[in-house]
Amino acid sequence: MNAEAGGVLDRLRRLRAADAPTHGGRVLSYVYDPGRDDLDALADAAASLARPVNALDPTVFPSVAAMERDLVGFTKRMLHAGRCVVGSVTSGGTESCLLAVKTARDLWRAAGGDGRPRLVAPVTAHAAFQKAARLFDLDWDPVPCGPDGAVRLEDVVARLGPDVALVVVSAPAYPTGALDPVRAVAGAARARGIACHVDACFGGFALPWWPELPAWDFRVAGVTSVSADLHKFGYAPKGISVLLHRGRHRQRAQFFATTRWPGYPVVNPTLLGSRSASPLAAAWAITQHLGRAGYAELTAAIVRTASGIRSAVDAIPGLVMLGDPVGPALALAADATVPAAGRVDPHHLADALTRLGWRVQHQPGLRQPNGIRLPRTAHLTLTPVLERSLPEFLGALAAASDQVRGRPPADAGALVGMLAALGYREGGRVPGPRAAWTLLRLAGVGRDTADRPMATLMALVEALPAPVAEALLSELLARLSQPR
Ligand SMILES: Cc1ncc(COP(=O)(O)O)c(C=O)c1O
Repeated sequence: MNAEAGGVLDRLRRLRAADAPTHGGRVLSYVYDPGRDDLDALADAAASLARPVNALDPTVFPSVAAMERDLVGFTKRMLHAGRCVVGSVTSGGTESCLLAVKTARDLWRAAGGDGRPRLVAPVTAHAAFQKAARLFDLDWDPVPCGPDGAVRLEDVVARLGPDVALVVVSAPAYPTGALDPVRAVAGAARARGIACHVDACFGGFALPWWPELPAWDFRVAGVTSVSADLHKFGYAPKGISVLLHRGRHRQRAQFFATTRWPGYPVVNPTLLGSRSASPLAAAWAITQHLGRAGYAELTAAIVRTASGIRSAVDAIPGLVMLGDPVGPALALAADATVPAAGRVDPHHLADALTRLGWRVQHQPGLRQPNGIRLPRTAHLTLTPVLERSLPEFLGALAAASDQVRGRPPADAGALVGMLAALGYREGGRVPGPRAAWTLLRLAGVGRDTADRPMATLMALVEALPAPVAEALLSELLARLSQPR
């Protein structure tokens, strides 16, 4: 089915029209809009210039090495990294986190570590670290947080031992916006010879300009690696992050090289092989153009927005901010100190905001192994462009809260009971693809946006055993991309 080019693009435009808006600040997650059309134009032009280049081989395409040097240098200066810090450009936050873990594991083994190492991280550390533990064969050892989403130093330190290959802290944690106690954890890790990674994938390009923060980067002696995403608050199009290591030997452990095949000698500093130089060129152009002053200015807009939202939430009965967020993320929860009739359930709030044209992200509550529950929340990623429509957003937040105040949280009890009776209970069966799809349909969840009631889905996630919920969600995603 050959299609004429104009027709193809028209079809893409129609497909794109169904997407959530990527610009304008109405979607408070996934997208990072600085509100600057000039940056979009610059990124497009740079990406287009570099599009045919294969960043696999900087000896053939030296522009790749030149741009990587500049980006790593920019990130190093921003994170107060000294001469001994070296880094690489990766395809995104997940790849940076994966590589930080793989490197730490390999170094732990090289230092004589035997058996299966542990990866210690507050439960709020990004899911990419669970993925890394699974892929690279480490035990994921999550440290529970208090009900406010903050981790206690003593709880982290209590987990540190000779089998720990890496301890991770976040700056800040995505689900809560909390800045973990970086200096204290890194100090404790250093005293025990354990590597410490600061995951600044989310905040790395905003916190350097955030006022009055304790040191959380390479100024802290025990920090051995830091990840920071250019495709988040670096304002670059997706597909780019930076991973820095303290010490060349650490970074070299990340490399894969082989001459043991008859093809070209392969040296991959990161996980991918061939990759387009477009994300690199776009990010390079944006950092060159914005410079430190540009980032400082954009961060100042977020700081003002965060403070406006804090004051507004304080004035909304039944709704609270979880913990003490630092930086551009915050989580809203129901005020558990007031009677149920006065509470604002964050998931109903998120649904009501969607109806008013604003998208905030549903985060399910989590029962931790120590019994402490982290409340369900609504996540807000604050971007510079939001400042322009802040009064409108705050009006919608107050109106949506009024609409749902007192409405009890969605309850998946009946469905969960039915699933338990079928054996899909704690420690029980996990549904295969066909059963998972049938169960989703029973829950009223389907392929179309309209059949995805988020409050119900989140209630299911909260109430089902994790392996069952994970099977259902995997099935939903798999079905979305399957030809119908
Ligand atoms: C703190 C943190 N780390 C890692 C990641 C993973 O980043 P990516 O989605 O770019 O793979 C995220 C994404 O939100 C994050 O917030």
